[in-house]
Amino acid sequence: MSAGIAKTAPAGARADWTIDQAWDRYEPAEHAVWTRLYERQKALLPGRASDPFLAGLDALDLHRGGIPDFRRINAELQKLTGWTVVAVPGLVPDEVFFEHLANRRFPAGQFIRKPTELDYLQEPDIFHDVFGHVPMLTDPVFADYMRAYGQGGLRALGLGRLHNLARLYWYTVEFGLMESAAGLRIYGAGIVSSRAETIFALESASPNRLGFDLERVMRTPYRIDDFQQTYFVIPSLDALLGATLQDFRPLYDRLASGADIPIETVLATDPVFTHGDQAYAREKAAEAKGGPRAA
Ligand code: PHE
Ligand code: FE
Repeated sequence: MSAGIAKTAPAGARADWTIDQAWDRYEPAEHAVWTRLYERQKALLPGRASDPFLAGLDALDLHRGGIPDFRRINAELQKLTGWTVVAVPGLVPDEVFFEHLANRRFPAGQFIRKPTELDYLQEPDIFHDVFGHVPMLTDPVFADYMRAYGQGGLRALGLGRLHNLARLYWYTVEFGLMESAAGLRIYGAGIVSSRAETIFALESASPNRLGFDLERVMRTPYRIDDFQQTYFVIPSLDALLGATLQDFRPLYDRLASGADIPIETVLATDPVFTHGDQAYAREKAAEAKGGPRAA
């Protein structure tokens, strides 16, 4: 993930914002946090995560001895799809982020969350970034999609449409669902790295689950503070990559004139997997207003 405007790299980081992972300096307690999170997700994901994610998890052998050493992952990942993981101190400016992706480098947070933050944290840490994102980068089609996204991000920045393109990232790379012969599966990093959202995204009656459409997605705002109210389902990674190979400029021109679609809306034109009852989001909104709390 990226945030903010371009500025110079913080002290101790290189000009491209990368730092050494310094794997030897992780404490045993930090490795233990990784292992706890890893084991929790590993138990939940069969039958819920998509095949490419599960295959990537196996290929990278991410459970071996706590926090993975990027030198070890990179040897494998580079062979498979030409990608590498690079360590960064935290969120990096958009341009820096896109520049890395366009060169098949995935910037990952170096730090790991505290044992008291197992379920929620603001900034992506190494568990979200590596467990969540890196397995999909072993898939050749997804690997190409992420590289193209980096190039597209640089272009969208120049065209002033990054807020639209960012929705594509959010609803695919972070919170994407995929069809499979056996039913819906998760592949978005924000879902697969979260115990609660793994279950919510697939099993709750609250959110909408709608067929993916590029323009529709780019018109839909998203939530950064809670579970998503709408998920978009791609038929396959090939279909996703295929939809994004077109020149986005005409699409950006149309987006400039049209309105956003409210986050919970289901359109008559949407392919509907689930028309959510939005009960979860409504209850949370009522709680926030100090209204009655359901027991
Ligand atoms: N085709 C897009 C463009 O013209 C670039 C892109 C590719 C964006 C893949 C996202 C994902 O800008
Ligand atoms: Fe992420």
